[in-house]
Amino acid sequence: MKPQILVAREIFPDVLARLAQHFEVESNQLDESWNAAQISARLQGKWGILTMAGERIDAGLLAACPGLKICANMAVGYNNFDLAAMSAAGVLATNTPDVLTETTADFGFALLMATARRISESERFLRSGQWKKWRYDMFAGTDIHGSTLAILGMGRIGQGIARRGALGFGMKVIYHNRTRLDAATEAQCQARYVGKEELLASADHLVLVLPYSPASHHAIGGAELALMKPTATLVNIARGGIVDDVALASALAAGRLAAAGLDVFEGEPVVHPDLLALRNVVLTPHIASASVPTRLAMANLAADNLIAFWTQGKALTPLNAT
Ligand code: DGY
Repeated sequence: MKPQILVAREIFPDVLARLAQHFEVESNQLDESWNAAQISARLQGKWGILTMAGERIDAGLLAACPGLKICANMAVGYNNFDLAAMSAAGVLATNTPDVLTETTADFGFALLMATARRISESERFLRSGQWKKWRYDMFAGTDIHGSTLAILGMGRIGQGIARRGALGFGMKVIYHNRTRLDAATEAQCQARYVGKEELLASADHLVLVLPYSPASHHAIGGAELALMKPTATLVNIARGGIVDDVALASALAAGRLAAAGLDVFEGEPVVHPDLLALRNVVLTPHIASASVPTRLAMANLAADNLIAFWTQGKALTPLNAT
């Protein structure tokens, strides 16, 4: 008999069809918003779930769903999983690393450029009919080429951004990470390791690519922003909660930071009104990995993890040992 799985959000029909070859699938192609209790109710009797980074898997849900054996996240970030609780309950967690690295690094760079060169702000100006004549200082921003690119969190995506900056734009790349990279990887990225304070103080453009955990909550708050140059820009493509959005909005409003590009927010999809009110912030709705081929690759990898765990007892990209 096929095991039952739940696909918590709408997904590519082809991926659903692949899953249906191996599992009895309950899907959510209407993309309804299910709360924790609804997910828990739908998980009764289910062996696995495919989640998309918004669905929280914690001790309470695991206790209510004793048949659950695997949670396959269609995301590289997995702060929606309580990994310790999952390991304790013998539930396998998987994510989707690698397949999104280059696409996400592309987007990080796009957001950096849009932020530094004031692209969204100038387009709003043009579309609202305010462009009456050319001016010498119209939407003059900050340069990218030759500037100092500071990266906080130097995993695969951080390294992709470093390579783009160093090789494509002649930027001086500095980084800070929990662990320093080996010399060969540093050389490949042309990146120099520095302490966090030096990183913040030297940055012309700061890009945040670190994973979210209680340890990285508000890694960038008022004190950290105060160390940065008033001409600097900040880009967050990691997770909401890494930046204190209120402190950031206040620094941007006061001119203590030139501009920010944000793809992720505390409490998303709600965005803090102070950020929405600012002209010098580029806002995107958590789309850094959203190219069609990459989202398809992520969905297929999440599906492959479920299939491989069922057919071979071993997932492709496990996060814990069970
Ligand atoms: C990821 O893969 O973690 C992206 O942020 C999508 O959630």
